[in-house]
Amino acid sequence: MCGIVGYVGPREATPILLAGLKRLEYRGYDSAGVALLNGNGVEVTKRPGKIRVLEEAIDAAPSSATCGIAHTRWATHGEPNEPNAHPHTSPDGDIALVHNGIIENSDVLKAQLISEGYDFRSDTDTEVVVHLIDYLWQDGEPLEEAVAAALRQIEGAYGIAVVSSRDPNKIVVARHGSPLLIGVGQDGEMLAGSDAAAVIERTRDVVYLDDGDYAVLTPDGYRTYHLEGHEVDRGVHEVTWDLDSIEKGGYEHFMLKEIFEQPSSIADVMRGRLLEDDGDARLGGIQAHQFDLGRVQRIVITACGTSWHAGLVGEYMLEDLAGIPVSVEYASEFRYRNPVLEDGTLALAISQSGETADTLAALKEAEQRGLKTMGIVNAVGSTIARQTDFGVYLHAGPEIGVASTKAFTSQLVALALVTLYLGRRRGMSAVQGHEIVQHLQALPGQIEEVLKLNDELEDLARSYKDAQNFLYLGRGYQFPVALEGALKLKEVSYIHAEGYPAAEMKHGPIALIDEDMPVVVLAPRDPIYQKVVSNIEEVKARAGRIIAVVSDDAPELQGKVDHMIKVPHTLPHLLPVLTTIPLQLLAYHVAVMRGADVDQPRNLAKSVTVE
Ligand code: G6P
Repeated sequence: MCGIVGYVGPREATPILLAGLKRLEYRGYDSAGVALLNGNGVEVTKRPGKIRVLEEAIDAAPSSATCGIAHTRWATHGEPNEPNAHPHTSPDGDIALVHNGIIENSDVLKAQLISEGYDFRSDTDTEVVVHLIDYLWQDGEPLEEAVAAALRQIEGAYGIAVVSSRDPNKIVVARHGSPLLIGVGQDGEMLAGSDAAAVIERTRDVVYLDDGDYAVLTPDGYRTYHLEGHEVDRGVHEVTWDLDSIEKGGYEHFMLKEIFEQPSSIADVMRGRLLEDDGDARLGGIQAHQFDLGRVQRIVITACGTSWHAGLVGEYMLEDLAGIPVSVEYASEFRYRNPVLEDGTLALAISQSGETADTLAALKEAEQRGLKTMGIVNAVGSTIARQTDFGVYLHAGPEIGVASTKAFTSQLVALALVTLYLGRRRGMSAVQGHEIVQHLQALPGQIEEVLKLNDELEDLARSYKDAQNFLYLGRGYQFPVALEGALKLKEVSYIHAEGYPAAEMKHGPIALIDEDMPVVVLAPRDPIYQKVVSNIEEVKARAGRIIAVVSDDAPELQGKVDHMIKVPHTLPHLLPVLTTIPLQLLAYHVAVMRGADVDQPRNLAKSVTVE
């Protein structure tokens, strides 16, 4: 959600800023802009639309500068037009600022600034910050003092970068609730970014700012401070993934690349974590904290979107195999109700990005209530990863496609590992543990098999691409898969789709079924298979067109369904990993055939860092 890049150093800033912005475009793509310190002042170029539109504008009037900041926006306040695009500038145009987040007291501050004579040119909350810096800047002070003074008056969430021709060759960055990191480059190069993708082309050494931190970047290096007034040292971390993982590598879209990465991402989430001889899991991130996870009485999972669907599968697994009561909450709901959280409850946040504002807020709520917190997170060093007491990283590598694919299946496997670990401490036999380990080990190879269905799914997509609606049905472990399949289709193809528990369908959605309604039914052979067969009969009786995802030849379904997609068989709680993938491919191909922007679907953002 909104991407920020900053550069100061010996080289031309523009190409570096634009390259960084392109790497961050998945965070938002409503508008983009840059501010350059070009020796004569601050030069701002901004455009509604994607980064290539900005790039064309810059190419038409190039400017030389070695210091600048840039932004790609996902609109929160104000429509995505040019005045609302970032950077925003002070009245004299000598301070420019980019912002990710929401300023909660912007109305109050705006009224004060208007009474001091400030004019506002945009509908954004951000403009308040740049005017406030201008207003508070005392003669002779460095830029960072004015920024810190302004931030002390601001409530809400922000990651910001600021430059000024009054104090040139310097970038001031700060964060509170929205991500921001410093890239420590070579030969006097310093960078800033919302995430490591923005800086990785130039450096792997990054410094993650904490909430309340601000930092000063110059060609001589960087210094970090806390708003309370003291200098802080946040340490330098090395980014371990490489540039290839954020490039398309021959695939037409990131989404397809990431779908095809699943054999390796699933191998990676299990690497070093399976104890074959003991039929157990090793979860270093938890065990290192010497927290006795085995004594947890109840787990509350909080998440959003696709991660919430993974949480639902986790609920089924943890109750079924580890005997722990689990509830799964939309993070955005959890924080505004008054949940009963008994002692011994563990709060488990699931998040690909580790930055989702609602998930983070739910986590903070749980923390305040005295709960231990755990994360299942993909982005290393992200806020949720650092905020939780302990956790399990997915190690799925960067996920760039806005619709989550490989992170979802990795979340499912991470949850299966947690289930195995907890189960073995709560009465699961070694025999059952062994069986689970063996089936987990087989998953990467089985995913390879599922991916061979790609052409079949492309053909299927051709038959259904013009449908207006889709229904996805599943029961038990397959119900969350139905939700996820429907979400994928909605997100990337803009076809309305609903996921429903297969048996619940007769209490409403069955009214929608006719010969124009494709119904995807998850029907692998699990303990509830026969019941699903009955549900298929109900759809068939209403002339619905049925696409069944099965895990064997499913003789009971011959002649009853229009298409059968066959995935390999595994344990019921692991089947979602395999049955999800055909649904990802179906959504992908339908979207491509409808001409949709698969990697950057309209109105969505990869990482939603606002409420
Ligand atoms: C956004 C993304 C979804 C994602 C959700 C949760 O809405 O578009 O793909 O599932 O956020 O994100 P998280 O990073 O917390 O998993």
